[in-house]
Amino acid sequence: MRDPRRSGGFSARRGNRSGDLEFWKLRARTYNRLQWAQQSSCLRAFVRAGGFRKGDVVLDVGTGTGIVAHAVAPMVAEVIGLDKSQDMLAHSNWRGNKYFIRRDIRTPIFADGVFDKVTARMVFHHILEGTQEAMNECHRVLKPGGLMVFSEGIPPCAEVKPDYEEIFRHKEKRLTFMEGDLVRLMRRAGFRNIRVRIHWMRRMSVRNWLENSGLPPSVQRTIFLLHEEARPAFRRAYRLMHVRGDCLIDMKMAILTGEKEAGVVSDGPPRKSARFRRALRRSEP
Ligand SMILES: C[S@@+](CC[C@H](N)C(=O)[O-])C[C@H]1O[C@@H](n2cnc3c(N)ncnc32)[C@H](O)[C@@H]1O
Repeated sequence: MRDPRRSGGFSARRGNRSGDLEFWKLRARTYNRLQWAQQSSCLRAFVRAGGFRKGDVVLDVGTGTGIVAHAVAPMVAEVIGLDKSQDMLAHSNWRGNKYFIRRDIRTPIFADGVFDKVTARMVFHHILEGTQEAMNECHRVLKPGGLMVFSEGIPPCAEVKPDYEEIFRHKEKRLTFMEGDLVRLMRRAGFRNIRVRIHWMRRMSVRNWLENSGLPPSVQRTIFLLHEEARPAFRRAYRLMHVRGDCLIDMKMAILTGEKEAGVVSDGPPRKSARFRRALRRSEP
């Protein structure tokens, strides 16, 4: 039988691995200037969903420049930020209870059940292949009873999903998720008590996003025009406003949490059954 944990059901477009790292090299330089990445209300909503505690050991998957890792670190025992791009990690600033490692989440490195919490903000849309396996890995490394906090930007409604895809087609190869896709991804990995919270980032600058995207100016212009000349349904869904040569839009973020089942905690070698003990007594001299 097909293992549902192995198939995410997302389109698998083949990505060029080294090309992918080049992409992050370009983005790394200005990533920390991105308004959405630094927006405090979004970061707070994400951190609040995690319910972090002093003793928690946390894995931040796709940590990038460490924005989530830095926000979580004062609340917990330790944070390990994991990212496949050395260029993004170069901006992450190792200090105190934060450690950073260069690794692809799809290549296992940790033992089973070592983390209290796993976080992943705006990472999974970049995992074009093995998306489900990556989520399964987040589940595997969590302790029984542990929590996954997972966030993605999504189209504001199904009606404008094609516009969203058209805009991002110019920017990068990526997956477009709707809320249901994110829930399915977690459920298939084995998460329980999955909860979705929606957070709107209001009046976000399209110019800021493009200017700090690492994209060539011609592509930035194309994407800006797609906003400026967007159809009415798009304008309404994004509450698009023209302000001093910029377009301001509302961005929809889905923040999901899911628990790894507590299961049976092993407290030493398996206990011998009554039948086994009786058989043992009979065989004793
Ligand atoms: C948009 S950035 C998000 C960074 C950070 N989580 C934040 O919220 O600011 C996505 C990051 O995911 C990393 N990434 C993408 N695919 C990955 C994978 N398979 N394993 C580890 N990191 C990955 C990229 O290198 C990049 O740094």
